[in-house]
Amino acid sequence: MRESIKNIIPYSPGTPVSELEIQLGKPIVKLFANESLWGPAPTVLNYLKNCTNEFLFYPDGGAGQLKKSLAEYWHLNIDNFCVGNGTDEIIFMLANAFLNPNDEIVIPTPTFSEYATAVQVAGGKINYIPQPYLSFNLKEIANSIHENTKMIFLCNPNNPTGTFFTSQDISDFLLKIPADTLVVLDEAYCHYANSPMFPSAGTLLKQFKNLIVLRTFSKVYSLAALRIGYAVADAALILNLEKVRQPFNANTIAQKAAVFALMDEQYKDKVVRETIAERTWLTEQLLELDLNVLPSQANFILVQIEAKASMVTEKLLQDGILVRHTGSFNLPDWLRITIGPHPFMEQLVASLKNIL
Ligand SMILES: Cc1ncc(COP(=O)(O)O)c(C=O)c1O
Repeated sequence: MRESIKNIIPYSPGTPVSELEIQLGKPIVKLFANESLWGPAPTVLNYLKNCTNEFLFYPDGGAGQLKKSLAEYWHLNIDNFCVGNGTDEIIFMLANAFLNPNDEIVIPTPTFSEYATAVQVAGGKINYIPQPYLSFNLKEIANSIHENTKMIFLCNPNNPTGTFFTSQDISDFLLKIPADTLVVLDEAYCHYANSPMFPSAGTLLKQFKNLIVLRTFSKVYSLAALRIGYAVADAALILNLEKVRQPFNANTIAQKAAVFALMDEQYKDKVVRETIAERTWLTEQLLELDLNVLPSQANFILVQIEAKASMVTEKLLQDGILVRHTGSFNLPDWLRITIGPHPFMEQLVASLKNIL
C-alpha cells in the first residue's frame, strides 16, 4: 500500500437503486446524483439501439471524431482536448500528470469529493479553504494562493451548493494568482446556469494558459452510465494529460453517443429550459415551507432541514424518493435534491409536506 492512500476512505456509492426497490417493494425516483432525468436526445438513443456491431474492436484511443466535434463546438483545435472515462478519470489524470508528492493544492469546501481523493492518492498536500457562506469567495481564496501552490480546484456552479461565481470574480482571480498555478475549473453543471454574469469558459481559455476546464456528458446529456467527459485547455497542458492517459480509456459507444449528443443543441436547450422551470418551481415550494434554500444555478438544489435532515432523507426513501443527505460534505443539516420532470417534483413536495 502506498503511504498516501493510508487514510483514504473508499468511495461509497450507497445501495444500488435496483436493490432498494426490491427492499421497499416499490419504484424509486432517484434524485440523488444529478443525472438528467429527461434522458438522452432521440438521435443518441437511436444510435445506442443500433450499435451492436461496435463491440468487437478496441475504441479509437485518440477519440478523433469526438475531439473534432468538440473542436467545432468550442472553436478550438483538436489538441486542446483530452477525453476521459468520465470527468472523474480526468481529475485523476490531472493529479497523475502534474503533482509531485507534497505539492500544495488548494480546494475550497464544500465541494465535489474526487478532487481531494485524486490529490491524496498522488501524495499532494491539500489546503482546504472552508467557505462558511456556502458560495465561493474568490477574493479570499486568492489570498491563500502563493507561488508554491501547484493547483486549485474550482467547481462552478459548485456541487453540492449550486451557487456560482461571476465572470468578473474569476477574471480578477486569474489575474491575481501566479501564472504557473494550474486552475481547474469544473463546469459539470454549467449548462444550467442562466445568470448573465456566469463566466464564459471559452473567453477565459483564450486569455489564461494555466486554466483547465472540465466538462461531462453525465449531466445535461444524460450519458452518466457510459462514462465520458473531457478537459479543454492550452495544447501544452493537454499533451501532459495525454501522457498519462490509458490507451483505450473512453469506449467506442460513449465516444459516438457524445458526438450525437453534441449535434442536438435544440434537445439540450429544451432539457435546460424545463430543468430551470422546475428548479424555480421547487425553490418556491420549499421557501413556502419556510425552508432555507440556496439559490441554484445547477440541476439540483441544496435545502436546509436542520437537525432533521437525516431523518427526512430516510422518510422520503420510504415514500420512494431518494435524495442526497449531505453529511459527507460536512453539511449534516442539508439535503441535495436533483431537479427532475414536474411529476417527480410534485411527488417530492407532497411527500416532504407530509413528513414535515
Ligand atoms: C462537479 C462534478 N464534477 C465531476 C463529476 C463527475 O463527472 P463524470 O460522471 O463525468 O465522471 C461530478 C459528478 O457528480 C460532479 O458533480
